[in-house]
Amino acid sequence: MSSRDHVPNEVLLETPHAVASAGRSGPLRGRIRPPGDKSISHRALILGLLTLGRTEIRGLLEGEDVLHTADACRALGAEVVRRGDGHWSLRGCGIGSLLAPRQTLDFGNSGTGMRLVMGVVGGHALVARFDGDASLRRRPMRRILDPLVAMGAEVREQAEGGCCPVLLAGTSEPIPIDYAPPVASAQVKSAVLLAGLNSPGRTTVTEAEATRDHTEKMLAYFGAELAVEPFGAHGRRIVLEGRPELRPAPVLVPADPSSAAFALVAATIVPGSEIVIEGMMMNALRTGLLATLVEMGAEIEVLDRRVEGGEEVADLRVRAASLRGVDVPPERAPSMIDEYPILAIAAAFASGETRMRGLAELRVKESDRLAAISRGLLQAGVEARIEGDDLFVAGCAGEVPGGGLASTCLDHRIAMSFLCLGLGSRMPMAIDDSRMIATSYPAFRADMERLGAQFS
Ligand code: S3P
Repeated sequence: MSSRDHVPNEVLLETPHAVASAGRSGPLRGRIRPPGDKSISHRALILGLLTLGRTEIRGLLEGEDVLHTADACRALGAEVVRRGDGHWSLRGCGIGSLLAPRQTLDFGNSGTGMRLVMGVVGGHALVARFDGDASLRRRPMRRILDPLVAMGAEVREQAEGGCCPVLLAGTSEPIPIDYAPPVASAQVKSAVLLAGLNSPGRTTVTEAEATRDHTEKMLAYFGAELAVEPFGAHGRRIVLEGRPELRPAPVLVPADPSSAAFALVAATIVPGSEIVIEGMMMNALRTGLLATLVEMGAEIEVLDRRVEGGEEVADLRVRAASLRGVDVPPERAPSMIDEYPILAIAAAFASGETRMRGLAELRVKESDRLAAISRGLLQAGVEARIEGDDLFVAGCAGEVPGGGLASTCLDHRIAMSFLCLGLGSRMPMAIDDSRMIATSYPAFRADMERLGAQFS
């Protein structure tokens, strides 16, 4: 029996949109532990699949996106069992010994799950069909398929524009390549490394801008031989020896900074708030939002820095603060790529203008986030404009009008961001659809309500 107890995406998309709204709240107070990191959760399952033996994972994010990856791992031959809250156990097949999936691998809304598993399939003698929801069907897959083809995989079918559904035939002897991704993308890097695991040689990825390094860290933790060195001003080169024998190792998933971001900003913009966020991952390639909020004048105290499960984590004490607009440089984007929607909300409450530069990648996330953010802000009475790949938000110095309806475009982070806006705006803010929040943060509403958020 599948351990997935969520509503399948196709059913979800046929149900009426779940309109939700948030109203001005009293001070937010209390402690929360955000859910497990989504990136690490996907990777823990996938490396568990590629390891011979049993991998125990604790703190796994049980959001729709990750559950789709768990299903894909099952379809590729792993035994995947949910033992309790966030505690999952996998018996993997080992590199080179995966099974061909009998059905389409459906990743729902999850670009990360699809792209990482494409890497795994690309490096194995398997044929698999990949598909997802309406949002995922619009997202570019050639960025993954191109290097996989260079490694010997074959794309048998694809939809227009290189989108899914995709029928991918992998190879049993991936050619070791030296690849420089044309966009800063941890997903592209990870797909190439995962395909390279079954290569008889050495796979190299050179990134001009360093992106989140969870794949490299976890590969090393599972016993792969891999070297990471600096490259240029902001980049890294990763060299992976093919065909390692991965050893099972217990994984403890830290709290997701991309989910913590909502409480962090909400407590900053709602006057009188003081909260503690527990166990947030402090990996330097994920903390761009923290750095930006501090520059804007946020009051964030970092408490009890420690290492848990191989990642640095800390508790954060956050107090309400008056923010000022800042200039966010393009080179910071990879370390906060998923946090621009909620940063834009913080910017709306700041005094002065915030300029966020170099955001081309936001156009190809779960929605065109540049458009969704600026349209939503206009709905909330906040002036925002896009110039090229830059986003400019004119801050309202704490007095955001609200009173509009933001269109969420099947995008969980747009949905949560505009609900956070409503917690501090003069009039309530509504979103047209809250269903996608379950992809990354099923307990969002409950967690925020416990702090004092007013939703309806
Ligand atoms: C992710 C990488 C990022 C991010 C996504 C998760 C990952 O995408 O936006 O939500 O887990 O590797 P890109 O690597 O494509 O920028």
